[in-house]
Amino acid sequence: MINNLNLLVEQMKIGVILTDRQLRIEYANKFASTLLTDSEIAIDGSNLSDFQVLSSNHVIFELSDCIQAQIASGKNNFHKTLIIKTEKTERIVYFTGQMVNGVSDALLLFTVADISGEMECIAESQSIFEDKHNYLVNKIIGHHETIRQIFRKIIQVADTGVNVMILGESGTGKELVAEAIHELSPRVRKPLVKVNCSALSESLLESELFGHVKGAFTGAYRDKAGKFELANGGTIFLDEIGEISLGLQVKLLRVIQEKTIERVGDSKSIKVDMRIVAATNKNLKELIRKGLFREDLYYRLNVFSIEVPALRNRANDIPDLVKYFIEKFNKNHSRSIKGINRQALRILMNYSWPGNIRELQNMVEYAFVIAIGNIISKEDLPADIMIVANMEKALNDQHLLAPLDQKELLNPISRNTSGRLKITKDQLEAMLAKNQWNQSQTAKVLGISRVSLWKKMKTFELEIPD
Ligand SMILES: Nc1ncnc2c1ncn2[C@@H]1O[C@H](COP(=O)(O)OP(=O)(O)OP(=O)(O)O)[C@@H](O)[C@H]1O
Ligand SMILES: [Mg+2]
Repeated sequence: MINNLNLLVEQMKIGVILTDRQLRIEYANKFASTLLTDSEIAIDGSNLSDFQVLSSNHVIFELSDCIQAQIASGKNNFHKTLIIKTEKTERIVYFTGQMVNGVSDALLLFTVADISGEMECIAESQSIFEDKHNYLVNKIIGHHETIRQIFRKIIQVADTGVNVMILGESGTGKELVAEAIHELSPRVRKPLVKVNCSALSESLLESELFGHVKGAFTGAYRDKAGKFELANGGTIFLDEIGEISLGLQVKLLRVIQEKTIERVGDSKSIKVDMRIVAATNKNLKELIRKGLFREDLYYRLNVFSIEVPALRNRANDIPDLVKYFIEKFNKNHSRSIKGINRQALRILMNYSWPGNIRELQNMVEYAFVIAIGNIISKEDLPADIMIVANMEKALNDQHLLAPLDQKELLNPISRNTSGRLKITKDQLEAMLAKNQWNQSQTAKVLGISRVSLWKKMKTFELEIPD
């Protein structure tokens, strides 16, 4: 038995070393010799403190001191991650030591496991995490703790195939989150198919999702694959999920449960494999209570949920977002706006952003059209933002930047509303085009009356295109 044990210990892929109190080696198996000397030559008789050992931060480490200290402190076992350095290699090892009794004169038993491979894996997974994190940092702007938490959640859930529900007000970036989940998932080489569930009537949405066969309904001239089929192997993003009818909810539940679909007008089952990422700005629990959303579907879709915060709850991210959009529009509009002045920024940080980041993005684009100089100032902000920012909390918001002088805030509005809006023909034309030549809308955005707008258009000889 003892002989057999000896054979076993010799074959172990863990170094086993027995020493006396002075750390003189009484026995070391082959693996221990390999780790300490790169060869299987017996090291019995040498001393453990002869081998060069580094601590994990590469400081030369006196193993004997450490062991002696452990002995002196009365502890009878210890473990430590160390680096063993030989002429050829440097290995990360997990070292354990313990006091033993009754084995000849030996007092100490050590084991040494080579964990270099595991450490590489950890480093690799850390670098994968960093790559994913970098991708997110460049795509979703924001440093607020809620955003950092969203990054962690996206990275955590992307790899799994589970369905995800994204909640948040309109314009908060739900679609960006859905895209990131797909991009960072193993499904990335297959399509991400987006469907806005609120844009179509019930029957059109059904044929959009499930496809149809020729003759299924008036106008179905040929067979057509639905979005579920197109998303096969990939991800389907069901935006505004709170808007789908109860009838379609039952059908969606069946797709999730059975992983098959039937095209409208056909009874043939088609297998589909897709991950569902859904989004809504509705309170689904409330809809469930009112009987407008099925609870069973809710749980199937909401396996994992991500809530995207409203911009007003992370106003400190506004400067970075503005900078990001300025860079983006500089490229798109071939301009070289350098930034925004503090005063204008304060106004933006005090505004409540009901349309969230989409509204902020539109605002920066508006300022691009309006701005005469290369720094965006309060004169370049839309009148509605000025009015609301002023009325809401610009004057007494404690946790944001110091509020502005009321006169400063009111000034541009009175100037605008009195018709003294400084705008060039190109700027006005761009504003009208941006608002689909809707004059009431454009007048509202500019903070002038429709009549003033009409007069300006006449002065510039601007006419609504056919
Ligand atoms: N954190 C962010 N960083 C940069 N751009 C953002 C961020 N969040 C949103 N955006 C931009 O704002 C716009 C609105 O975002 P998105 O469409 O993702 O919002 P949403 O929540 O889906 O809105 P809705 O509910 O209205 O569909 C997009 O142009 C998006 O690129
Ligand atoms: Mg959206």
